Amino acid sequence: MVKICCIGAGYVGGPTMAVIALKCPAVEVVVVDISVARINAWNSDQLPIYEPGLDDVGEEPLFSTDVEKHVFEADIIFVSVNTPTKTSGLGAGKAADLTYWESAARMIADVSKSDKIVVEKSTVPVKTAEAIEKILTHNSKGVNYQILSNPEFLAEGTAIQDLFNPDRVLIGGRETPEGQKAVQVLKAVYAQWVPEDRIITSNLWSAELTKLTANAFLADRISSVNSLTALCEATGADVTEVAYSVGMDSRISPKFLNASVGFGGSCFQKDILNLVYICECNGLPEVAEYWKHVIRINDNQKSRFVNRVVASMFNTVSGKKIAVLGFSFKKDTGDTRETPAIDVCKGLLADKASISIYDPQVTEDQIQRDLAMNKFDWDHPIHLQPTSPATVKQVSVTWDAYEATKGAHGICILTEWDEFKGLDYQKIYDNMQKPAFLFDGRNVVDTEKLRAIGFIVHSIGKPL
Ligand code: NAD
Ligand code: UGA
Repeated sequence: MVKICCIGAGYVGGPTMAVIALKCPAVEVVVVDISVARINAWNSDQLPIYEPGLDDVGEEPLFSTDVEKHVFEADIIFVSVNTPTKTSGLGAGKAADLTYWESAARMIADVSKSDKIVVEKSTVPVKTAEAIEKILTHNSKGVNYQILSNPEFLAEGTAIQDLFNPDRVLIGGRETPEGQKAVQVLKAVYAQWVPEDRIITSNLWSAELTKLTANAFLADRISSVNSLTALCEATGADVTEVAYSVGMDSRISPKFLNASVGFGGSCFQKDILNLVYICECNGLPEVAEYWKHVIRINDNQKSRFVNRVVASMFNTVSGKKIAVLGFSFKKDTGDTRETPAIDVCKGLLADKASISIYDPQVTEDQIQRDLAMNKFDWDHPIHLQPTSPATVKQVSVTWDAYEATKGAHGICILTEWDEFKGLDYQKIYDNMQKPAFLFDGRNVVDTEKLRAIGFIVHSIGKPL
């Protein structure tokens, strides 16, 4: 029986291994993590992540903190640890911090007594496999290692359906007979449920660079459409109409063209910064600048949103209550990493607003921690974060949209949760200060209906 051990029980490791365990009954699947709290949560009724469909997958891998035992026993080791942006030293603010990856690799070399296939599941800079290979082979005690790159393309909120039905699975390996044999072993795992024509194989460096490129292209689409929102607002064009008509060109496609307050999430910014750094290191400053702009437009989109709120509310929100509906970086997840809500709330707090936040999946503790934390500090293992962060006093968190909006001067919708479409906006309006402002950062509300109630509605990229 083949044994798979995944190091890192996070948003990727947990769901991916649950699906492999379900689809490959002949494989023993174990997920290990150094975070005792995370493993305990996976083994409880309160899973550490909210992901639709995860509860129903059925087959559960074993979740364990006994990292060394399971790595020792495994034939295939997936490494799915976090690869955050470096916060200090060479490349700070851009380069990937591979500390967690390197310590996992050193531990693998330490405990292994039999040949292993080591799979890069984390998103890493191109050429990481070469560094990992060095660590493993220079510390090997006669053990043979094959490194594969198998980047993950799932999106949070749709992780289970993405894993069940991926557009493609990519496996990169060394172009040696041993490397190609390892590629076939991993391919056989995915072939249990993924049609063969969707399993792509390539060389290692292409696979590593594909992942960074795919995220850069996706984020680029959002920044492209977001860059036009101010122009739409100034001219009377409607960004939804523009994006719809542009997307009807099959070469462009209608997907991923929703204008927003800005993209968030743990990967787009981190991976583009990583790409920028790699370009700089390879003497390509123009290419680095090109991709940096995707992030600049995104930062500008968030500050533009804050400026619009303040400017529309008579140039001050000092002492005013602003209700924030939605804090996670997108709907159907409780994940707040790099959510645009953090920057928007910090911007409003800087103008001395008092903020009342409601999100169906994010706890008060998490929100307070996010608002107290410095940029880039978030993606370090949860056990290293303070358990009781300082509280930002002008922020309150409720478990009800009606409570959050009671007595508010304005509402900011920052996540596109479906439930925000069906709220009783007449009731909300009746309980607000007048004039009642609504800033829709996700273009989810029925603008005409809300204007008929009496709201002053500002949408993204739409005429007033
Ligand atoms: P995560 O922070 O949710 O999980 C990573 C886990 O690794 C943490 O629980 C941490 O405690 C553990 N860990 C760190 N070092 C360890 C070690 N040495 N030994 C054992 N465990 C260790 O991260 P994630 O969102 O699952 O992302 C993991 C990787 O996958 C990142 O490189 C990310 O860029 C990539 N990725 C993420 C997504 C996504 O949607 N979140 C999608 C595709 C790819
Ligand atoms: C993204 C990619 O979609 C995945 O393919 C990739 O595997 C993953 O990053 C990763 O490497 O981590 P994710 O960040 O989970 O997935 O979520 P997305 O659906 O891509 O959304 C990212 C952000 O863009 C969200 O804040 C979302 O609201 C925003 N977005 C998305 C828009 O503003 N407009 C859109 O049209 C689409």
